Amino acid sequence: MDTEVPEQHEPDLRHHGDAETGPGLSDFAVNVRGGTPPPWLAQRLRDSVAGLAAYPDATAARAAVASRHRRPPEEVLLTAGAAEAFVLLARVSRPRRPVVVHPQFTEPEAALTAAGHQVERVVLPPDFVLDPEDVPADADLVMVGNPTNPTSVLHPAATLAELSRPGRTLVVDEAFADCVAGEPESLAGRGDLPGLVVVRSLTKTWGLAGLRAGYVLAPPELVRRMADLQPLWSVSTPALVATEACCAPEAVAEADAWARELAVRRAALARALAKLGLEVTPRAAASFLLVRSPEGEVLRHRLRENGIAVRRGDTFPGLGPQWSRVAVRDQESSRRLVRTLAHLLHDDEGDNVLNAATRELGGCA
Ligand SMILES: Cc1ncc(COP(=O)(O)O)c(C=O)c1O
Repeated sequence: MDTEVPEQHEPDLRHHGDAETGPGLSDFAVNVRGGTPPPWLAQRLRDSVAGLAAYPDATAARAAVASRHRRPPEEVLLTAGAAEAFVLLARVSRPRRPVVVHPQFTEPEAALTAAGHQVERVVLPPDFVLDPEDVPADADLVMVGNPTNPTSVLHPAATLAELSRPGRTLVVDEAFADCVAGEPESLAGRGDLPGLVVVRSLTKTWGLAGLRAGYVLAPPELVRRMADLQPLWSVSTPALVATEACCAPEAVAEADAWARELAVRRAALARALAKLGLEVTPRAAASFLLVRSPEGEVLRHRLRENGIAVRRGDTFPGLGPQWSRVAVRDQESSRRLVRTLAHLLHDDEGDNVLNAATRELGGCA
């Protein structure tokens, strides 16, 4: 296989995984949970159509979010997805030294830049573990993901808490927090940390990318300022219905059960990919793995020719073309991915490597 590595370039922050899927491709590029939204949630959304003649009323959904995270409703702002939260935050903030910790989801930086801020990047090297010392002491706005897209790394709550201080807004993007059973490293319940803003999304776990539903947990004064900037009725009635439903204890328990099963499938896939010779980023905690291979971009193209879409890594600051993000799917999909990779990477000794790798996928459902 040709392993020539193209030149580094400024990443396209507005590139997203959905641009890499398409008809006839098995989708390992997008991180939305398979088989979602679940039927009970889809039914609630269909039922919500009966209420569409009225303007949306966020009271019940806001109370549900507050109760789920044990915060007062004044510390909750419902948004049209996490994406709207980043834009509102960027527009209300007047930071002198805004810092974005990369590699991470690129919209927070894009929103800050669009709002006229000069963003400084803190780029973590592999294995992408954050040390609070990495962040300049006088940064007055810090954005970090947990677990982080695309690295899947879960930072300890204590590490992130160390970044919070008076005079600084610390934004933790927890769009993938419910990939972790029990959410032990989530800061969503920490109303006591100065300047902490937690951003959450319903997109990934509940399969609602097209609905636009998310929320912010923040000090009441910041919630008020963001709400003042938010277009009236920005969150639709179906999105409010989904938000309330997904904060109910049964829904949280469903996500938790899925997260436990995801952990088993993720570990098995990580072992299988390592057997194939790929470097798999450790401490993965989300619904995807970040992998590096010397064949990088060429491998990604060959996978595509073989009907498999994975997410390119080079549009994330701090990653180059050798990196790809791979969604953790069901066992059959993982087998297909591993078979195809074994064939592409190990032509001659394909069978032996394939057997070793698929043994790792063995018992996982
Ligand atoms: C880490 C992260 N945060 C936020 C988002 C956006 O979420 P939403 O669909 O709620 O705007 C994404 C989407 O890819 C993401 O990966």
